[in-house]
Amino acid sequence: MQTLDWWLLLHPVLAVVLIYPLLGVVLRLGLQARQRRVNRAKLPPTTGREHNQLGQWLAAAVVVVVLIALAVVISSKQTADSSRQLPLLLAWLGTATSLVALWRVQSAGLRLSFSLITWCGLLALGAQPEVFRLSDNPLEAAFWQSHYWGGVLVCGLMLFNLAAWPEIQRHLSWRRLHISANVLAALLFLSQGISGTRDLLEIPLSWQQPFLQQCNWAERICPPTQH
Ligand code: HEM
Ligand code: HEM
Repeated sequence: MQTLDWWLLLHPVLAVVLIYPLLGVVLRLGLQARQRRVNRAKLPPTTGREHNQLGQWLAAAVVVVVLIALAVVISSKQTADSSRQLPLLLAWLGTATSLVALWRVQSAGLRLSFSLITWCGLLALGAQPEVFRLSDNPLEAAFWQSHYWGGVLVCGLMLFNLAAWPEIQRHLSWRRLHISANVLAALLFLSQGISGTRDLLEIPLSWQQPFLQQCNWAERICPPTQH
């Protein structure tokens, strides 16, 4: 393992040790909040509040972990073209700042604006040629197996939660929308776990890269090794 390989591991490690355990807790507290409300179950009155607090951390952490993945993927494959480095750095910093702003602002208009700016920032960074996307065509099966597209979609849903939590707390119709959106998010988290581990299996260590680039991946053959 070289330094670059450790950098590439940062995103999967944070997903495994931070995001998924937190997701388990947020899911459980959300279900308890609902049981308390609908079935009048005897559960602590704090379930809703704790679900919301940990949910906000989860949503922000997902975006941060994706920002880390995008930074590592883009900078590890950057070629000599230095004219793109500054705009890319500014786009990354702008997206991160917009996430911080979304966390802090209170008015509905600002929450909507900053959530959209953050998501557009992720899409702009993800559109760079360094970021591997299986397919960009939703009509192809590969699009739905793409770790990238699942990732930006789940980020969009998390940003929606982060932007709209005061409305979700107050209005029944928003809570219904919140539940539907997050059933989809839970499925996407599951598929991210599968496509992410698949990608880890497929990406070679950096010292193996030069040899594997000579392989014909469609035919699944590599040039014979010399001894
Ligand atoms: C894994 C994703 C999530 C799932 C499956 C989920 C599910 C739920 C469920 C089942 C409820 C109860 C609805 C009811 O009482 O009818 C709820 C309430 C709520 N959720 Fe989530 N949620 C998720 C993530 C989030 C996140 C990320 C946030 C915040 C950023 C959040 C904020 C809230 C709020 C504010 C409420 C209302 C709580 C209250 O009753 O005071 N949720 N959620
Ligand atoms: C919280 C769930 C996750 C989300 C939202 C997410 C999202 C993303 C995004 C948007 C990228 C950048 C685009 C790309 O290069 O494909 C990425 C890269 C990557 N992710 Fe995840 N991911 C998640 C979980 C995981 C897990 C659990 C693993 C493995 C254990 C993983 C492994 C990877 C790898 C290896 C890359 C780099 C791929 C490359 O260089 O092309 N991810 N992830």
